[in-house]
Amino acid sequence: MTDEPLLLRALRLEPVPRPPVWLMRQAGRYMAEYRAVRERVSFLELCRTPGLCARVMADAVDRLGVDAAIIFSDILPILVPLGFDLDYLPGDGPVIRNPFRAKEDLARVPETIDTGRISYIFETVAETRRTVPKEKAVIGFAGAPFTLASYAVEGGSSRLFARTKTLMRTDPELWSRLMDRLVDAVTQSLLGQAAAGADALQVFDSWAGALTPDEYRKFAAPYTERLLARLAGKVPVIYFCAGNPALLPETARLSAACLGIDWRIPISEACRIVGPKFAVQGNLDPTVLLADKQTIRAEAGRILDAVGRRPGFIFNLGHGVLKETPVEHAVELVRAVREFAVSSS
Ligand code: CP3
Repeated sequence: MTDEPLLLRALRLEPVPRPPVWLMRQAGRYMAEYRAVRERVSFLELCRTPGLCARVMADAVDRLGVDAAIIFSDILPILVPLGFDLDYLPGDGPVIRNPFRAKEDLARVPETIDTGRISYIFETVAETRRTVPKEKAVIGFAGAPFTLASYAVEGGSSRLFARTKTLMRTDPELWSRLMDRLVDAVTQSLLGQAAAGADALQVFDSWAGALTPDEYRKFAAPYTERLLARLAGKVPVIYFCAGNPALLPETARLSAACLGIDWRIPISEACRIVGPKFAVQGNLDPTVLLADKQTIRAEAGRILDAVGRRPGFIFNLGHGVLKETPVEHAVELVRAVREFAVSSS
């Protein structure tokens, strides 16, 4: 018997007795243990305290019974060594007080970051690897260049990304200079996380779905591909682009091991579009976890019946766990997936 994590075998498209399962945003405000920690420390302080990050994630993994621990961190702290003034306001989410709006702003974004300023992320990876059992994979992560640029330009969360799209269309040269710097910073972060012991990496492109396929091909994909190419052959990478299934044919050209699929497309259809060479991860609508346990089992069953036997299928939600989710519902979901046997003999 091997204790190599199931997730790693699935990422290589090898046979597994059942699909591995974990949940995006599996540690967070829906858990009382997490809320108790947050009463004592701010979110950014928590991200900068590796021992506490490892504890928060290890407790969530243990409670849920999932097969992987994603490090407890966030996609935005990398903006700090890039010269952005980041904060998280209760209720409002992230804010960047000095957003990137014009040519003059480029001067304060360094071409390469001092990785010493994100060493706490690398320590979180190492500490999480030491804390969780070895049959659980440890996943490092970062935001994709487009998604990070959207926060840097908008100054926080956004619905329409009007400033971001206007910058990219009206000053493509400035856009590409900003994106180049983001690619380099994210590459440094992910290589550091791999060196610190991450078994796999996930790149979150949470907002690239706001683009049309043409715009995605022009303004986002080349930068993501440069990032993925620098990681290829080192650690398997899951690329999760949310919000727009029309982008799937584009993402299926990227050098990732696995593509994350949101809930807006039937998973069998997504698998058909991306073809057999990628592992796929997803795609349960996170709001299903707000329904009763019977519904949760039925919806999970629908996905498992469709693709549970496909080589490289990784069960997950189609986006992060919502803060209103009852913890027992998430536990029930994981239990249902773990009961699914690939070979029914
Ligand atoms: O999966 C996990 O449990 C690991 C931790 C994790 C967090 N953020 C913790 C967090 C991960 C993987 C992320 C990634 C992240 N952060 C993304 C990509 C995934 C996605 O949801 O699309 C994005 C877009 C962010 C940016 C971000 N961070 C926002 C918009 C917010 C505020 C709104 C929200 O959902 O809470 C955060 C804060 C944040 N990141 C919290 C947590 C637990 C809540 C902070 C708090 O305790 O108040």
